[in-house]
Amino acid sequence: MSTALNFDAVLPIITRDVGMLTGAMVIRHSTRKYSTSPVDHEALTALQAYAEELSTVCADVRLCMGDATPDSKLFKLEKIRRASCKNASHFCVGLVRTDSVGSDAWVGLLGEMYILKAASLGVHTCWIGGTLRKAEVLKSIAPEGEWTVSFITPLGNPETPTQGFPVRKRKELSKMVSTARPLSDWERRAAEAMQSAPSALNKQPRTMSVENGSITLREEGKGKESPSGGMTKRLDTCIALTHVLAQLAKDGKIRTVETVSSLPLVVRISQ
Ligand SMILES: Cc1cc2nc3c(=O)[nH]c(=O)nc-3n(C[C@H](O)[C@H](O)[C@H](O)COP(=O)(O)O)c2cc1C
Repeated sequence: MSTALNFDAVLPIITRDVGMLTGAMVIRHSTRKYSTSPVDHEALTALQAYAEELSTVCADVRLCMGDATPDSKLFKLEKIRRASCKNASHFCVGLVRTDSVGSDAWVGLLGEMYILKAASLGVHTCWIGGTLRKAEVLKSIAPEGEWTVSFITPLGNPETPTQGFPVRKRKELSKMVSTARPLSDWERRAAEAMQSAPSALNKQPRTMSVENGSITLREEGKGKESPSGGMTKRLDTCIALTHVLAQLAKDGKIRTVETVSSLPLVVRISQ
């Protein structure tokens, strides 16, 4: 089943949550070492409600929370087994329908909204999609129907409390943004929103072009459909798209959002 992005389904939630999303974009960073103190109960309740709401947006994507430290057998790399999830008190898994095509884009959008909600509640996370034993993860949550694991994130308190703003290694804007003139203030904020988004292996495989009246976000390369649950540049691009849409909504600069191409993903936002 092909699952095209439907912005009518997600923009109302982004617009409603714009303060939460843009505030969390500034403070979120990946946490790989957690303390043994459990996550605040009210935060978990709010996260559970958000996971359920986001799971209604696209029939091919579900976010399922688990109430235990993720079993270390679920991870392929010793480094991750020992660090990334050790001590995290809970986790969330992103699932996609096994026969879905294009659900990776939705995973990027909805997964990042969930990750930002967690950050806004003081709950730390880390997207993990490439170094997982997906079949084992699936068994551990046993959802109904035909589902495949896309990613997991631990949910926890950091081993060492964060001080100040996170330092993130990111590509320079000049390498990601093309424009024929200097950016206006709101265009720069949209570009910085894209820059702040996390990505697999920190590769940031997306670019932005800014023209009068529109901002276009592009997945790098030619694009490629991958089996359900695969980590794709399109998924990464949609993580960045979440940030860009939230920032543009905050600045009142979204009139229309259209998918210009699905492969590679190209999304144009006009004001
Ligand atoms: C889609 C996706 C998949 C990821 N998969 C993994 C993974 O398999 N293993 C891992 O250690 N980190 C993984 N990461 C974490 C990234 O490496 C991390 O987000 C990146 O280093 C940026 O972190 P920062 O935003 O705190 O700077 C993944 C991130 C994303 C967005």
